[in-house]
Amino acid sequence: MCGIIAYVGHKDVQPLLLEGLKRLEYRGYDSAGICIGGEPGFFVRKAAGRISVLESLLDEERAAPHGRIGMAHTRWATHGAPTEINAHPHTDDKQLVAVVHNGIIENYVAIKQFLTDKGHKFVSQTDTEVLAMLIGHFYQGNLTRAVQAALHEVRGTYGLAAMGAEEPETLVVARRGSPLIIGVGKEEYVVASDAAAIVEHTTQVVYLNDNEMAVLAPGTFKTMTIDDIPVTKEVQEVEFSLQQIELGGYPHFMIKEIFEQPEAIANCLRGRLDKNEGRVVLGGLSQYSRDIVRARRIIIMGCGTAWHAGLVGEFLFEDLAKIPTEVEYASEFRYRNPIIEDGTIAIAISQSGETADTLAALREAKDRGALSLGIVNIVGSTIARETDAGIYLHVGPEIGVASTKAFCGQIVVEALLALTIARRKYMSQSVLEEFLRALDRIPNQMRLVLRQSDLIRQVASQYSHRDNWLFLGRGFNYPVALEGALKLKEISYIHAEGLPAAEMKHGPIALINPGMPAVFIATRGTQYEKLLGNIQEVKARGAKIIAVANEGDDHISHVADHVLTVPDTIEPLQPLLTVLPLQLLAYHAAVERGCNVDKPRNLAKSVTVE
Ligand code: AGP
Ligand code: GLU
Repeated sequence: MCGIIAYVGHKDVQPLLLEGLKRLEYRGYDSAGICIGGEPGFFVRKAAGRISVLESLLDEERAAPHGRIGMAHTRWATHGAPTEINAHPHTDDKQLVAVVHNGIIENYVAIKQFLTDKGHKFVSQTDTEVLAMLIGHFYQGNLTRAVQAALHEVRGTYGLAAMGAEEPETLVVARRGSPLIIGVGKEEYVVASDAAAIVEHTTQVVYLNDNEMAVLAPGTFKTMTIDDIPVTKEVQEVEFSLQQIELGGYPHFMIKEIFEQPEAIANCLRGRLDKNEGRVVLGGLSQYSRDIVRARRIIIMGCGTAWHAGLVGEFLFEDLAKIPTEVEYASEFRYRNPIIEDGTIAIAISQSGETADTLAALREAKDRGALSLGIVNIVGSTIARETDAGIYLHVGPEIGVASTKAFCGQIVVEALLALTIARRKYMSQSVLEEFLRALDRIPNQMRLVLRQSDLIRQVASQYSHRDNWLFLGRGFNYPVALEGALKLKEISYIHAEGLPAAEMKHGPIALINPGMPAVFIATRGTQYEKLLGNIQEVKARGAKIIAVANEGDDHISHVADHVLTVPDTIEPLQPLLTVLPLQLLAYHAAVERGCNVDKPRNLAKSVTVE
């Protein structure tokens, strides 16, 4: 999604803002702009396209003042084409107020009409310019008051920063539904929509909640609601450091994060597997452990990869915890008038913790009385703060748009939660300990799978020219087939479909044409023999079989054209290993096709608009 970086303090603001925009680049955008204050009026420059276009413009002009206050924005257009005129910052028509904004002003049409009738002149097609104009309309010498007055009129979501031409040292920031974090430095404040743009300046941060705002100036840091009620905010330590964000020698964030998974899962498990006592330790849920153990139904909500992780969770909660579970696309759940009975737990799964559809579905479930739990990666994110309790992934920042380590982290957390419940209900200590030992082995087993990256690259290059792939699996590996298809689609732009393997005979087998790659997840398990039959059905029609199978499976090589192996583990944990070859297939196919792996076209890392 879009990104905001703003600063007030003692440093030269232009280079700081541009560096901050580059830290936000991965979130996806189509244009960018900068506003520097400190002297009468504003210095504003905007450009469509990459941040480098804006940077070149500033370098050529050398006209920017050396201000100590400013803000910048990367836009992911929702209202108005991605053009220079629609890029942020936007100002009012008297050039008294400048605004950068993440989110959507839903009632901007009515406000625009009101302001036009008052004689205000608009130049862009955006909803954000309406917000800037409204603040300008209310401005009578006090920027904070004008922002508050305007925010009482708007409906929709915002993370915003505002500057005033007549208040050259003041930065006003506010949020509702779109993240905003304030980095608290020494005599300086760095505001951003993502901690990645703050950590090089400070790891001391304040997270604004919805309908909260802050007024920042050298030596001034006031936080209040948009009703001007003072609020006290806790300064927290950001979990990850800058080097974790850097590429670390890898060509792309995605491949870095694929190879980080053993360490990421070890971190996800750290402190949560008490091997001496043979138990799971999930501190964040203790207050609700009775409600959780006695739950009569679980609803899992998520989008994209998070939804696929939820499908694995459905198997885990029903198989281990014996609780009826359903998995919902968050975007569908929120409009379905869902029935929530007593004893229902709503689990929101989200890497970013800011996905608008998931947040809305969570709020819907909470309003109807569900106990809400979050399975989230970004500490302090909106979903994490709006759930009654939750479990952080602790897999570190995931920069690549295609989610990889977060998917595995989500499955691990679901397994830990399912085991916590199971042990309190039916599971024996010995069965639990067997499961915990299997979990403990996963990081090293992942390392064994990842060693096949070169072999997988060779397989991917043989089929990267094909326009349609199939991904097929059964049981716990059916969601993995869906995830493998999504990975390939979103970074290589190859059309792919994931299906339960048995579904092929109900129609999709008509798709098979000679040479078509069909990826089967064919690990040993309760449905292995049936899956071999599915492979034969597809092979007989000329498809090329790429099988993900267990080490030592001598049979599979007789039916598959390519075999990618994974170590043995218990069936419920197989997705943590079988997904790795699929991530690598997608990555290598995308590289082979010259795609922008970390910033795929049309996509953003966190979809904070509906
Ligand atoms: C996954 O590779 C995609 N980038 C996308 O489907 C993502 O999983 C989805 O938008 C949900 O994001 P979240 O986990 O941050 O809520
Ligand atoms: N809705 C605003 C626009 O289209 C902001 C979009 C964004 O969040 O980047 O300009």
